[in-house]
Amino acid sequence: MDRIDKILVAQNFGSRKEVHKLIKSKAVTVDGECVTKVDMKVDTAVNVITVAGQVVEFKEHLYIMMNKPQGYVCATEDKVSKTVLELLPPNLQRKGLFPAGRLDKDTEGLLIITDDGDFAHRMLAPKKHVSKRYYVETDKEITEDTIKAFEKGIIFRDGTKCLPAKLEILENNRGIVEICEGKFHQIKKMFNVCRLNVTFLKRISIGNLNLDSNLTIGQCRELTKIEKNAIFLVK
Ligand code: URA
Repeated sequence: MDRIDKILVAQNFGSRKEVHKLIKSKAVTVDGECVTKVDMKVDTAVNVITVAGQVVEFKEHLYIMMNKPQGYVCATEDKVSKTVLELLPPNLQRKGLFPAGRLDKDTEGLLIITDDGDFAHRMLAPKKHVSKRYYVETDKEITEDTIKAFEKGIIFRDGTKCLPAKLEILENNRGIVEICEGKFHQIKKMFNVCRLNVTFLKRISIGNLNLDSNLTIGQCRELTKIEKNAIFLVK
């Protein structure tokens, strides 16, 4: 059992003050009865809550798709730079949210933000083989030799071995790279080994989930259930 105001704040119906206003305006019911007390005790497993006539569906976790802009770091807090969490609109803010995986500060594109640690682990662990695809631009022409080197598995200068990766040339210095691990600066370093510098990097998909082309840079929205599952569908 928990207080109705606390429950509604946790479900993103607004701040405590806003939720109190909602309750006072008679917009909230529990099992068909209008709520009059902000501290009414409710059991979300048993009682049916409505707000403005809509049944409240309880979400244990939040899963957010963001089109990450450059200039933001993938961290929950940072002393120097702005974090991706600062881009979340008030209705998508919740305790415990974190970026699932890191994109560099100057990398754009598909980022998942969640408060579900198991989900993030499933998505990120190389053993789970969830592929991540990136659009990449380089300072020089990408050649067949680079494709072959990626296919074989790049070895960094410090001896770290990368799993085989797919590289498709779109034209000249533009391509699509697919990897299923997330080593620090992995794609930039893989190209560096092949004597190319990455000048632009954008993640375009994770598993079978593509970045929503309607999301402008910096925008985000909740994932649908189908999209969430698409991450783990084998291509
Ligand atoms: N590889 C990189 O080098 N940077 C990223 O942000 C993601 C993958």
